[in-house]
Amino acid sequence: MSTPMTAEQIARHVVAEAVWAPSVNNTQPWRFTVGSEQISLYADPARRLEVADPDGREMMISCGAALFTVRLALRSLGYVPRARVLPDPGDPDLVAQVSWPERAAITEFERRLFGQVRQRRTHRGAFDPEPLPQDLLAALRSEAAHDGAALRIIADDGRRAALAAAVQTAERSLELDSRRVAELAQWTPAPGSARDDGVPATSYPARAERTDPYYPGRDFARGHGWGLPPVSAASAVRTAGVVGLLTTAADRPADWVNTGQALQRMLLTASAWGAAVALHSQPLELAGLREFLRTRLGDGAYPQLVLRIGMAAQVAVSVRRDPADVLFSSGEGGDHASPGPG
Ligand SMILES: Cc1cc2nc3c(=O)[nH]c(=O)nc-3n(C[C@H](O)[C@H](O)[C@H](O)COP(=O)(O)O)c2cc1C
Repeated sequence: MSTPMTAEQIARHVVAEAVWAPSVNNTQPWRFTVGSEQISLYADPARRLEVADPDGREMMISCGAALFTVRLALRSLGYVPRARVLPDPGDPDLVAQVSWPERAAITEFERRLFGQVRQRRTHRGAFDPEPLPQDLLAALRSEAAHDGAALRIIADDGRRAALAAAVQTAERSLELDSRRVAELAQWTPAPGSARDDGVPATSYPARAERTDPYYPGRDFARGHGWGLPPVSAASAVRTAGVVGLLTTAADRPADWVNTGQALQRMLLTASAWGAAVALHSQPLELAGLREFLRTRLGDGAYPQLVLRIGMAAQVAVSVRRDPADVLFSSGEGGDHASPGPG
């Protein structure tokens, strides 16, 4: 029989995968500690977007995505994770503690999801006209529900247009806010940068692709002309894809963490089916627009993210911090906050 892995070896494997979770502006606002038979996941408030995300909602969604990846990576080793999700009033940055008390072989479905952790990329732009694989939307709905979130598909034309208008209004208003622009600039390094966080110019298109209705992306290039060249011939018909809202019944930090878990589950599922997902959090960063989405398009549930789902070739390349920079032995890194963008 082979020697069982130590907690440190398990944590190194798990964290090397978890860092590939999506995070707002690729802030990677997390750190991990390993103790005996337990990994703790902490939010790293030094990496929270102070202007865009004063309550830490997007930071916690990002940490939730990392948490789901921790659980999946433990499954890849044949362990059954047991996660305790916050709150711990005495330790507000502690997101979750995960142990692995039992063993069970990984299922085929889990193996497929795990295989997407490093492959999956956030899509930015339009989609090919081909339809989504049959049953994908049903699968995504059920994956979201696993973690207490809901995927609401916005199907009728009027509501699709209203959602697009909310994204357009938000994007315009963020571009007019100098504090927001300055904050975005901290997380959008120039091409060729050696930064291992933030949104690199290899991950977004240089020219926005118009769709009807139009869901504008964030202005990562800020007029510098950075970004990827067009992927398709200008004449090809490209669409906005299937649009939806990821919502929760309540709006506490635990709901944000669960949103992140649901998000990563859905993103990996879509990726395993050959589909891509675009995320728009612009209207959720403005209280008035978020309330509009909650009451008009969310049936009163709290909108956490706007998603577009479709088929597209994956061309984006992203970056991540070295797992060794975010994993500490318990006691060693508990109070350690990383410095944020340089
Ligand atoms: C809470 C949250 C909000 C996000 N909002 C946006 C967004 O508004 N626009 C966007 O293009 N990407 C958005 N993203 C995706 C991140 O920018 C992306 O995960 C990060 O840059 C890493 O790239 P990757 O997902 O391709 O690995 C968001 C991700 C999270 C978790």
